[in-house]
Amino acid sequence: MSKFPSDKPVLVTCGLPYVNGKAHIGHLRTYIPADIFVRSLKKQGQEVVFVCGSDTHGTPIVVNAEQLNTTPDELVRKYHKHFDETFKDMNIHFDAFGTTDDPENHNRTLDIVSKLIESGYTYPKIIEIAYCPGCDRFLPDRYVQGICPHCGETARGDECDQGCEKHLEPGELKEPKCTVCGGGAEYRKQEHYFFKLSEFKDFLLEYLEGMEGTSNARNYAIGWVKQELTDWCITRNLDWGVKFPGHDDLVVYVWVDAPIGYIAFTEEWASANNGDWEKFWKGDGRIIHFIGGDITYHHCIFWPAMLKGAGYSQPWAVVASGMVKIEDKTFSKSRGYVVWVGEDYLDHGFHPDLLRYYLTSYTSHTKELNFSWKVFQEKINTELVAVFGNFLYRTLLFAHKNFGEIPEGEIEQDVLDHITGTITKVNGVMGDYEFKKAVDSAMALASYGNVYFQSNEPWKLIKEDKTACGKVVANCIQIAKALTILFEPVLPQKMEEAWAQIGMVGDIHAATYSDATVLVNSGTQLPKPVILFGKIEEDQTGKMEKISSARVAEALAKESGAKDGEVKDMETEKENKTETGPETNEEITFDDFSKLDIRIGKIVTAEPVRKSNKLMRLEVDIGEDTPRQLVAGIKETHDPVQLIGRQVVVFANLKPAKLCGVESRGMVLAGDTNGAVLLTPEKDVVPGTRVR
Ligand code: 2FM
Ligand code: ZN
Repeated sequence: MSKFPSDKPVLVTCGLPYVNGKAHIGHLRTYIPADIFVRSLKKQGQEVVFVCGSDTHGTPIVVNAEQLNTTPDELVRKYHKHFDETFKDMNIHFDAFGTTDDPENHNRTLDIVSKLIESGYTYPKIIEIAYCPGCDRFLPDRYVQGICPHCGETARGDECDQGCEKHLEPGELKEPKCTVCGGGAEYRKQEHYFFKLSEFKDFLLEYLEGMEGTSNARNYAIGWVKQELTDWCITRNLDWGVKFPGHDDLVVYVWVDAPIGYIAFTEEWASANNGDWEKFWKGDGRIIHFIGGDITYHHCIFWPAMLKGAGYSQPWAVVASGMVKIEDKTFSKSRGYVVWVGEDYLDHGFHPDLLRYYLTSYTSHTKELNFSWKVFQEKINTELVAVFGNFLYRTLLFAHKNFGEIPEGEIEQDVLDHITGTITKVNGVMGDYEFKKAVDSAMALASYGNVYFQSNEPWKLIKEDKTACGKVVANCIQIAKALTILFEPVLPQKMEEAWAQIGMVGDIHAATYSDATVLVNSGTQLPKPVILFGKIEEDQTGKMEKISSARVAEALAKESGAKDGEVKDMETEKENKTETGPETNEEITFDDFSKLDIRIGKIVTAEPVRKSNKLMRLEVDIGEDTPRQLVAGIKETHDPVQLIGRQVVVFANLKPAKLCGVESRGMVLAGDTNGAVLLTPEKDVVPGTRVR
């Protein structure tokens, strides 16, 4: 049974963008499906509110503002406006779009943090904080760079961004340096406040078992809670942010006040619309968070624990999207693998709805999405143009030319069955956050429409029996009406045009799925149709590919010119390194080769490593008494469940190393093609078989 409509009201939110840079396609991967989901809920007759806003605090913004010689306030105003406009341009419609610096959020954060303090869920602790004697100030998070204590790579204060990706607590970084003046920093003792996350283990395990949403979010979170929960330092030495109660020199950590923004924006929606925010946050309304997969820990562990501790309702579902690649390369702004929504897409005249279609129909929501201009062109031309657009245009052109209005005709049983079948399917898969399946089902109805038109040969029928021909045309228009309603969540602007072309009055956005089977009004005048989806030409995408290549080349030149240790990218997304070389021609002897103990192994356990975006912990049977524990960088590319039982190739006598705190005794071999491709034997062999 479909989960929607439910008599419980639904609140949908999207992860808040940090407003210190431009909107890119990676952002849209979350916001567009969320918008489609909300529009679809409305079509199912579900009461729903959709809120979002800008994440304005935290050190990335303060450091960026400082580097740009502006204030955090000015910087976030500029980019808040940019995001607000971009979302509107992309037909993403929020009921409220605030900022975490709004008074509503300062007040709500104060309330929640005070409740956590009163309930004994926080405690003070003296810790070591990096301090720059040159700048005479403490250095929170990105103000400090140094060496990761876990893997020895260069890392920033809150995260080992270039190595093992472990979350770092203040004071953990070795050889700290100030990122503002470049001078050496020292550690000084200072009192900070911690949230007792460790006390919520039992609550979280039970909560997560019942949490709805996508299984990737739930399964990762359960795995992390089972491993360990460490308390979080929730204060920072900054002026910009929400003050920690009773301490004017401290603000709360950005990951405290950012999710509280979800509540504040619901309050903003409520005041503007005479609505009730408490039915979600203190009642049993369903809260559904759409997020990028990289912030699952914050939303499935930290956030519900904080809400529980402060006496608020917890999210009903968390829907986590997969990563985005650009032309098969790992998304990276500094390396040029990025598509900016404005300058690379809208400014070149591409219609927003086409990108909405591509992002939804490319792959399942939780899987990796590869953006490619060629595939974009192909999908638009072979699906929207050749199937859906073709059906609409041929139907309406024929109807306009031969009837000038919607002719009379009842809905044929087979047509009705196809329409109702599609609606039932779409309702069901939308409730499972399977947006691609919803789009594919609607497209299958368009294909059916083409077959119906073709097999009834109205161009012949018109000469023999105009009434019978009229019935066929009326059925085609009925299918067109259903398609317009079904595609409205994905193609809202284009479907406004289609709605007018099929002679419908009223607001397509307010039409429900059940309206799709209401018989079209015969006698309604039909305007001369225009082609809804134009073909994307080779030269349009070729031009875009050239722009992308030039950007990558420029980034490469910049990178090779950059000084060692220079702080290159202060933007917020984690950027994965994509090593393609270096090529080596150095020869080794057979004796050298025979020192390598390479064996075939069989994976018996696979689970994601907590707080690492890339690493997976494996136990592999390589013919020893107990399976070997190995850590592999395959979390982004492989589903742990699918790995169990698979045979792999293991480099067994590699010196053990700790990755993200987990010991790896050997290495699983893989081809590095910007995403690991595991090597497997030609056929299953006994685990432990040597590779020679
Ligand atoms: O990772 C990010 O981009 C954060 N700005 C997301 C915040 S979502 C929420 F919790 F506020
Ligand atoms: Zn590290």
